Amino acid sequence: MSDEAGRQRPRIRKAVIPAAGLGTRFLPATKSMPKEMLPIIDKPVLQFVVEEAVASGIEDILIITGRGKRAIENHFDFHPQLEAMLRATGREELIDQVRDVGDRCRIFYIRQRRQLGLGDAVALGREHVGDEPFALLLGDTIIDPQTGSPPGLRQLMDAYEQQPATVVAVHAVPDDWVSRYGIIEPARESTPMQNLSRVARLVEKPEPGEAPSNLAIAGRYILAPQIFECLDRIHVSVGGELQLTDAINLLASEQAVYALAWNAKRYDIGNRIEYAKCFIDHALRRPDTADAVRAHIQQALASSGDSPA
Ligand code: G1P
Repeated sequence: MSDEAGRQRPRIRKAVIPAAGLGTRFLPATKSMPKEMLPIIDKPVLQFVVEEAVASGIEDILIITGRGKRAIENHFDFHPQLEAMLRATGREELIDQVRDVGDRCRIFYIRQRRQLGLGDAVALGREHVGDEPFALLLGDTIIDPQTGSPPGLRQLMDAYEQQPATVVAVHAVPDDWVSRYGIIEPARESTPMQNLSRVARLVEKPEPGEAPSNLAIAGRYILAPQIFECLDRIHVSVGGELQLTDAINLLASEQAVYALAWNAKRYDIGNRIEYAKCFIDHALRRPDTADAVRAHIQQALASSGDSPA
């Protein structure tokens, strides 16, 4: 692929998915199960993330795991005994579902040995990614695009094709949520796309009065390979961790970084209420569950004295 001036523009082929967090907000469920394996009805959160990457055109995925995360590797692997049992009992159609995306891309794993944060996790991808821009998808975030829109990561990749540089997805959050996220300060500079802005600076989890905007980093990124040099130069900061946001901030002082404000719905599965909302929204949408779940919610609200909006 090349731009108007004929320069080669590297294609985004590889993705990194950090999935090494301890998931303490989901104890006791996460005592022996990775939070990324929490199901939305019958599909683990991480499978949604891998499917989004594959549907966006990613061919190669590096998942950053850690202690207690072996269930992730097993999930994307073949399971001959289970497949034999499904075949023997005439349920072949389930075989495709259990093999799923593991067949459609190459998945690699590396373990994060210390709990030093997202910056440390991403740095582990350096050798695998090499010298090309790559996608980063947080393993505990589900993105639901608006009906008819491309998958979340694809929207970022499309923006990258317009403006080949680091681009992070952002969404507007209420003022009292800014200290949960990385927040960007948009620069006043026009770009080829209406919802794309150049980033002047980024700050991780600012105090409410100190946030430069209410545009929060939404868990999807296209990163230039120079991010790895920036990760070498950052120090432990917010929460006693190495923050990816600090490294992107350094990068933004040296090369263009953009933010894409998208319309997709984002569920932060690290948060119990968001997880519950995601589960309910999906249950209300899936043809095999929608009617029964809707009827149940209406009945439950009526019997508790509330009525659905
Ligand atoms: C991380 C990032 C933050 C981003 C958030 C999105 O925070 O550090 O910049 O806004 O993911 O979910 P964490 O959720 O790991 O605290």
